[in-house]
Amino acid sequence: MVGIVLPTRSEVLPVTGAAPGIGRATALRFGASGASLCCLDLDADGARETAETVNADGGDAFGCGGDVSDEVDVKGAVATVLERHGRLDVLANVAGIGHFRHTPEESLADWSRILGVNLTGTFLMAREALPHLVETKGVIVNVASVAGLTAHPYTAAYGSSKGGVLMLTKSLALEYASRGVRVNAICPSGVLTPIVTQFAAPDGAEEILFQRIIPPNGQLIDPGEIACAIEFLASAEMGNMTGAVLTIDGGVTL
Ligand SMILES: NC(=O)c1ccc[n+]([C@@H]2O[C@H](COP(=O)([O-])OP(=O)(O)OC[C@H]3O[C@@H](n4cnc5c(N)ncnc54)[C@H](O)[C@@H]3O)[C@@H](O)[C@H]2O)c1
Repeated sequence: MVGIVLPTRSEVLPVTGAAPGIGRATALRFGASGASLCCLDLDADGARETAETVNADGGDAFGCGGDVSDEVDVKGAVATVLERHGRLDVLANVAGIGHFRHTPEESLADWSRILGVNLTGTFLMAREALPHLVETKGVIVNVASVAGLTAHPYTAAYGSSKGGVLMLTKSLALEYASRGVRVNAICPSGVLTPIVTQFAAPDGAEEILFQRIIPPNGQLIDPGEIACAIEFLASAEMGNMTGAVLTIDGGVTL
């Protein structure tokens, strides 16, 4: 009898923002195929719950509370991965925050927090992981957004942070190409996750501006589709794919 054989993986990877949404879907996908995971999230209980779900399905994961914009937390999380597994193969930078806000009403604190989590957090995780990824010829996958590619309304902070993530991706891809580390980014349009609730149109918004961010296929994306793309970009079979920006957007940037 011929059965279905799922591919098995041996990668060790931290996934940030792993409590709900895209990060959780990524952890479940990699966990189901044998990877060893660190599920990192500001929401420590959520991160542990994701890890428990991976483990209940026969995978290998641990949950870790931490703030990706905090140097100490990032160093601690990567050190824990290395203590447990002695290596690091893939880094999935998924954690992110944002909102719609009229620019004059954007506080410096909120601007700094969005840049701090989305851009600086991605940088800190990458900086900590890169020396170890050189050893394994590993991969970083950053989740950016179509808001980093084309202008979205009322998202000066979020769009700037995601545009920054794209240039960070390309800068690292260039710097590390000869050392065998690949760095790629994904730009989704709207994905059906809790973050969507943070994006409420501000009072007095110009409705017409939102038309440009509705994809022509009219779909919100399942987080599992983004997890699938992260797995694709991390795959050893994509050995020459680096500095790539993969849009998964129902055609919204066409
Ligand atoms: N959902 C969408 O429509 C969409 C579209 C494009 C891009 N994205 C990006 O995808 C990524 C994942 O978002 P999601 O849709 O799964 O949202 P989500 O809100 O479901 O998940 C984001 C996770 O990041 C965590 N997080 C926030 N700040 C953190 C910090 N400082 N340190 C560690 N963890 C932190 C949150 O606790 C949350 O668990 C984000 O970077 C987001 O910008 C989402």
